[in-house]
Amino acid sequence: MTLAAVSPIITTPQFEAANFLNLLIVDDERSIRDACREVAQSLGFNAFAADSAEHAYRLLETHSIDAVLLDLRLPGAGGLEALRQIKSHRSEAVVVVVTGYGTVQSAVQAMKNGAYDYVTKPFTVDELKLLLERVASHLKLKSENRLLREKVKSKQGFGSIIGRAPEMEKLYRIIAKAANSAHPVLILGESGTGKEMVARSIHYSGPFRDKPFIPVDCGSLVPTLIESELFGHVRGAFTGATNPKDGLLAIAEGGTVFLDEIGELPVDLQAKLLRAIQEKEIRPVGSVKRVPINVRILAATNRNLERAVTEGTFRRDLFFRLNVLTLRIPALRERRQDIPLLVAHFLERIGRDAGIEKTISDEALKALLNYDWPGNVRELENSLERACALSSANEIQIRDLPTQIYGAPADLMGISQPSNGIVPMAELEKQTILHALTQVNGDKMLAARLLGIGKTTLYRKLKEYESQNWAVAPITGAGTGG
Ligand SMILES: Nc1ncnc2c1ncn2[C@@H]1O[C@H](COP(=O)(O)OP(=O)(O)OP(=O)(O)O)[C@@H](O)[C@H]1O
Ligand SMILES: [Mg+2]
Repeated sequence: MTLAAVSPIITTPQFEAANFLNLLIVDDERSIRDACREVAQSLGFNAFAADSAEHAYRLLETHSIDAVLLDLRLPGAGGLEALRQIKSHRSEAVVVVVTGYGTVQSAVQAMKNGAYDYVTKPFTVDELKLLLERVASHLKLKSENRLLREKVKSKQGFGSIIGRAPEMEKLYRIIAKAANSAHPVLILGESGTGKEMVARSIHYSGPFRDKPFIPVDCGSLVPTLIESELFGHVRGAFTGATNPKDGLLAIAEGGTVFLDEIGELPVDLQAKLLRAIQEKEIRPVGSVKRVPINVRILAATNRNLERAVTEGTFRRDLFFRLNVLTLRIPALRERRQDIPLLVAHFLERIGRDAGIEKTISDEALKALLNYDWPGNVRELENSLERACALSSANEIQIRDLPTQIYGAPADLMGISQPSNGIVPMAELEKQTILHALTQVNGDKMLAARLLGIGKTTLYRKLKEYESQNWAVAPITGAGTGG
């Protein structure tokens, strides 16, 4: 057994996915239990050890065990019986069985009885690590899927998408239609418009909502890993592939794979993806066999794919394949009427989390309505979160908003901001005074009062601006004190 011989075990940085997962090690050999425990802990697992099947059952009763490393050669009734008992105690526990050379048959039997994977003795620390990391990722994915299902279910289909602009109503109709079909859907929209939200809605409003929804960010994956992520690999496919791995297209069986940032997918993989969609089968890296898949593809991009096709960076045939149904989500500035609804929605959520009621001043809301929102709904959400964090008062004021929004009235009045974003004080003062006058329809008395300056000061300032040829003309007529 090489495992116990490798010492000391180098503690690697904690593998995030394993944090707080409970692993039970069942082995009658103390040295193996201790060594496995050390490896598991170095990965972030909470490790428990049992020296017999009976001991393991007791621990299963009292601890919420997520995964079990089970020696099949246990004294007494044996490992297969222990596996059966473990599964009946805790059906969702992921069980990896440990078997000796020459007894692989029993490992195969164990897999048939619900084991997740097996490892043969002797194994190295690295093999065990990779295996446990895989278990952790598998558990994480499982719990994420469960959480999401619950989250979205409780919000009933696409009820969580906020917006009543006509473009949004149209979008809801297409989502409903798309949800009940199996065709690929291409979701287009600027960054932060809610592409992922729409993809989830399509999945969770459809008939296969109980199956997995698996998002894949084609932009953030290392190109060399995308193929193995999507299609899986067999043991020994490349250095470090000590265990076979299912691809996401296979894991999503019966459900949906959401290919986010599809425009970033390398061209060679575009061809493989196209084949997978057309033939409904994949070939894991390093394998000669093809595996059938049954999965729905949704894709999203904020890039102009048609242009990418013309430029030769995106395959035309894949584009047509994905583009069976297109959904374009409007930018927030194209549906400003939805801003108050979204603001109310986010303030309600932020307030609920913080335990206080949050409101917004008219002036601040006006600034939000006037801003252009290059980062769309996400930027709006972040701005409100920031504003609420900055101010302990219940009502958000304009000064609590990020400066680019706060400065928006200047743009509205036709004052262009210098490229360095710094506006001289005198100019800011001008903007503030003129904006105040616009707001009160030119009532100078009222404007002076609201601005907190004397009437004479206001008049003097306006004279100055007039002499500079400043556009005060539209305001002068309606004044009461002029
Ligand atoms: N119509 C909407 N109603 C409520 N919340 C929304 C809406 N659209 C987007 N959001 C929220 O805005 C944030 C961004 O949404 P999402 O991640 O779906 O956008 P995206 O288009 O995928 O962005 P990116 O291009 O940056 O990946 C999320 O927190 C989401 O909940
Ligand atoms: Mg996204």
